Amino acid sequence: MEKIKMILDCDTGHDDAIALMVAARHPQIELLGVTVVAGNQTLDKTLPNTLHVCQHLGLDVPVYGGMDRPMVRDQVTAGDVHGESGLDGPVFEPLVKRAEQKHAVNYLIDTLMASDGDITLVPVGPLSNIAMAMRLEPRICQKIKKIVIMGGAVGLGNVTPTAEFNTFVDPEAAHVVFTSGVPLVMMGLNLTNNVRADMDIIERMEAIGNKAGKLFGDIMRFTFRSQAVNGLSSGPVHDVTAVTYLVAPEIYETKDMFVEIELNHGPSYGQTVCDINNRYHKPANVTVGLTCQLEPFWNIVEDTLRRHI
Ligand code: BDR
Ligand code: CA
Repeated sequence: MEKIKMILDCDTGHDDAIALMVAARHPQIELLGVTVVAGNQTLDKTLPNTLHVCQHLGLDVPVYGGMDRPMVRDQVTAGDVHGESGLDGPVFEPLVKRAEQKHAVNYLIDTLMASDGDITLVPVGPLSNIAMAMRLEPRICQKIKKIVIMGGAVGLGNVTPTAEFNTFVDPEAAHVVFTSGVPLVMMGLNLTNNVRADMDIIERMEAIGNKAGKLFGDIMRFTFRSQAVNGLSSGPVHDVTAVTYLVAPEIYETKDMFVEIELNHGPSYGQTVCDINNRYHKPANVTVGLTCQLEPFWNIVEDTLRRHI
């Protein structure tokens, strides 16, 4: 079977790291490269975090540093959720793996323009890299097969009452991507908040007995502790849902709808305004995830972690 060619764009981050683990070893995915953006922490932290995960698991995939700030707005990070390093919890060896010289935005443009239009982008952080690439070389929009985003939400937020972190951090970039005409799939909080690792899942992945299972445990035990402050006994793995959608879309219930990004600097700045009831009668531009079947989801994650060292 022909593999799905994908580029992961991330701001590693706890759930980003697990998304990377799944993308790197799923037998149906060919992970061409990883581009990194500022988001959960500043780029000088999210880039080494990404390199650490690759080095720790022996992943021979090129990593590119990208945008160190949003396109327009002031910078926002999530140290309150992901810790001072952006990936607090796991302890890694001293870093030897280096990022590629090329800027992530140039890598995206060069790779897409040289492609046969068969590459899927999976951005799981703020959309600054993808939007900047689209502005610098608009012809890439015809070359991108599909973009599967973790970001946004139907009707809720986790930074403000209405905005999800990734779209809140760079709303203008999200606007560029959501108006690009490229086929979009959105895994938002309305879905990802329900895809959570509890202690049974953590112990199940650790029981695999390899480095990847242990890393999953170290990552989610940290997330678990930070969620416990809110009285919750499980932690969400938002970003992983965008990767598993690529290989198992049938486990997701989706709905096509018109989605636009709120760019006014009022209380809803960065909201994905999802016209789920078709009030505008505008053509749908996004396939929005509504539900995910948890058993097959965790089976995919476990099976992929087993393929690691
Ligand atoms: C998103 O924000 C980040 O903190 C996570 O990595 C995820 O991409 C969830 O709102
Ligand atoms: Ca992320």
